[in-house]
Amino acid sequence: MITAETYHVPVLLKESVDGLDIQPDGIYVDVTFGGGGHSKEILSRLGSKGHLYSFDQDADAENNIVDDDRFTFVRSNFRYIENWMQYYGVEHIDGLLADLGVSSHHFDDETRGFSFRFDAPLDMRMNNRAGKTAADILNDYTEEQLADIFYLYGELKDSRRLAKMIAKYRQNQRLETTQNLMDALGVQSTATNGQWKKDMAKAFQALRIEVNHEMDALREMLNGATNLLKEGGRLSVITYHSLEDRIVKNVMKAGNAEGKMNQDFFGRVQTPFKLVNNKVIVPNDEEQTTNPRSRSAKLRIAEKL
Ligand SMILES: C[S@@+](CC[C@H](N)C(=O)[O-])C[C@H]1O[C@@H](n2cnc3c(N)ncnc32)[C@H](O)[C@@H]1O
Repeated sequence: MITAETYHVPVLLKESVDGLDIQPDGIYVDVTFGGGGHSKEILSRLGSKGHLYSFDQDADAENNIVDDDRFTFVRSNFRYIENWMQYYGVEHIDGLLADLGVSSHHFDDETRGFSFRFDAPLDMRMNNRAGKTAADILNDYTEEQLADIFYLYGELKDSRRLAKMIAKYRQNQRLETTQNLMDALGVQSTATNGQWKKDMAKAFQALRIEVNHEMDALREMLNGATNLLKEGGRLSVITYHSLEDRIVKNVMKAGNAEGKMNQDFFGRVQTPFKLVNNKVIVPNDEEQTTNPRSRSAKLRIAEKL
């Protein structure tokens, strides 16, 4: 049976929620509800007048919804955060937490195609009510588009070779399952050299990012957060790979995803945030040992000026 505990073990729980500097009567947003670990910790620190809005676009996360008058679940992509806050009549928020990417539940679900550990349909949609699947992308994108995805989102050096192998495979047969993708890429899952696992993890990550438009959603959400946070409000974000981390770092330093520093007439740098931690926070040794998924996590915290 899936419980909130087996669904996902929250990463950097104390550090990320401490970073919000919770005001008991404040309004907070957790844009990545998942198993609800971070949301429950935020609720435990809120007083009776505080409120938490938590987003998740995955229907499975709804099984973890908590019964609390101070809690509202928003079944949506977090890129629409400004529209939703307007809908709920919220002009400003005191803090926003994001724990990006997919949950352990996604990797452990044998049916959704997020992991090469199981033979499953190539879906990879977090919101499986809409949008293109990984199979659609693998079968319909041009070889060049596939190479770009593997290079940009998987940081795979031999992206062109991988795209060529997929293009060759699909001349004879559509790619429908994770096993088809492994076959197309000539992966022997019995190979003793562990490099294939690292490369497949990167290829799967690249496809997942494209399927879910993760980079666009992140940029739009951070832009919305910048507009919604009140002065002194906190932004606490956990990332799991360098592409996400770069965008978060740029927004916190410069106020935009590109990291372009804007200056006023007198040459003073204009930025909406002050960094709370200059150095990224990473899980301690104990957390990295007990929860291997936490090993790639990086936490950044900023305060709205
Ligand atoms: C790393 S998990 C969060 C785990 C959570 N902090 C916990 O303690 O259980 C990320 C969650 O965010 C959701 N998610 C990712 N991107 C999203 C988006 N653009 N909009 C809404 N939900 C998203 C995923 O479906 C997943 O459940």
